[in-house]
Amino acid sequence: MTEKLAALGGPPVRTRPFPAWPIWGAEERTALMETLESGDWGITADGGRIATFEQAFAETHDAAYGQAVFNGSVALGVALRANDIGYGDEVLIPAYTFMATATACLMVGAIPVFVDIEPGTYNMDPAAMEVAITPRTRAVIPVHIGGLPADMDRIEAIAAQHGIIVLEDACQAHGAAWKGRRVGAIGHLGCFSFQSSKNINAGEGGLIVTDDEALAERCWSVHNCGRIRDGRWYQHEVLGSNYRMTQWQAAILLAQLTRFEDLARRREENGRYLAKRLAQETGLQPQERDERVTQHGYHLFISRYTPVAFSGLPRDKFLAALQAEGIPCSEGYVPLYRMPAIQGGVQRLKAAVDWPGAYPETLPDCPVTERACAEEGIWFTQAMLLGTSADMDDIVAAVAKVQAASGELLEA
Ligand SMILES: Cc1ncc(COP(=O)(O)O)c(C=O)c1O
Repeated sequence: MTEKLAALGGPPVRTRPFPAWPIWGAEERTALMETLESGDWGITADGGRIATFEQAFAETHDAAYGQAVFNGSVALGVALRANDIGYGDEVLIPAYTFMATATACLMVGAIPVFVDIEPGTYNMDPAAMEVAITPRTRAVIPVHIGGLPADMDRIEAIAAQHGIIVLEDACQAHGAAWKGRRVGAIGHLGCFSFQSSKNINAGEGGLIVTDDEALAERCWSVHNCGRIRDGRWYQHEVLGSNYRMTQWQAAILLAQLTRFEDLARRREENGRYLAKRLAQETGLQPQERDERVTQHGYHLFISRYTPVAFSGLPRDKFLAALQAEGIPCSEGYVPLYRMPAIQGGVQRLKAAVDWPGAYPETLPDCPVTERACAEEGIWFTQAMLLGTSADMDDIVAAVAKVQAASGELLEA
């Protein structure tokens, strides 16, 4: 006798909400009031809170330099420009990512070349990356999807062999670590986002980390209207714009940083526990974790759904049933190369640049991405991992309950 599903009129597993996001307190309030009263709301001679945050965040991520900007999308664009990547260049990106990874390339005039992902991790497949390299390839952008580090050993080795830049899109990977080192500056440089949903949140915000002083200096110029450090205010040496962070953002971010490690530990603990139980007790398969991943950032808890384990129930019906049990969940991305915005951007660039057959006219061949988007991907958000192990038990119980009654649901 299976329990009656909430979707079919039974009682839900859970009625209590999961922890709310963002978390804030007296630290944010005090920092905002101090910023208000200081009158220093934007750029200042000594950098103020922005400079303090840049240094603190870079240190937290094992990097020598940090350059704050106003969001993660812009961070990617600044990082590309700082490497002089633009018209006529190709940049390899995973096909399973947020659109900003692709549009950052298009906005600087480079073509994003979509690379398929690994079936277990949903991160860029290094073998597929290697095959996609052409003489025009200037950079690769591994995205640590959901906060799970990509295979940086192989990506770095292939990139070094071909002399291309490694720009980490760590916008979802605050605190994530590969072989004991935090992501971001494992490659040449990396970008973070502090948009509302992110694990460190200022509403909006972004930051570039690197160990390379010259690169850090170029990021500074690009983000500050192409100025140079000891130049005059109206002296513009590099093509850049105003991508500067405000002191308001930095004030919030410094306060958020004080609780970051505690929250990251809690996500890691709950994430590991949930992954183990789901894998052992249900048909959901959590993102596979390489043993070299020493910390998962857990911006998202991603699992793979296979209808065969659920009596053939399609994913959308499963998601609706799980939501009815009181468990927030979603299906995640669509293949970016199918989006009119991306296709239009690529067509426009190809028309503007002499591009003899360097980019396929047909859609990229990314079967794993297609499957992840159309059938498999299931997302839980980071704030759900901030509660107790009993909250995780509810998720497992709800998945198991829907699984047990999936045949019934299929017929309903
Ligand atoms: C993988 C990835 N790249 C880039 C971005 C862009 O960051 P932002 O929203 O701060 O512009 C995001 C944020 O949603 C992201 O998830």
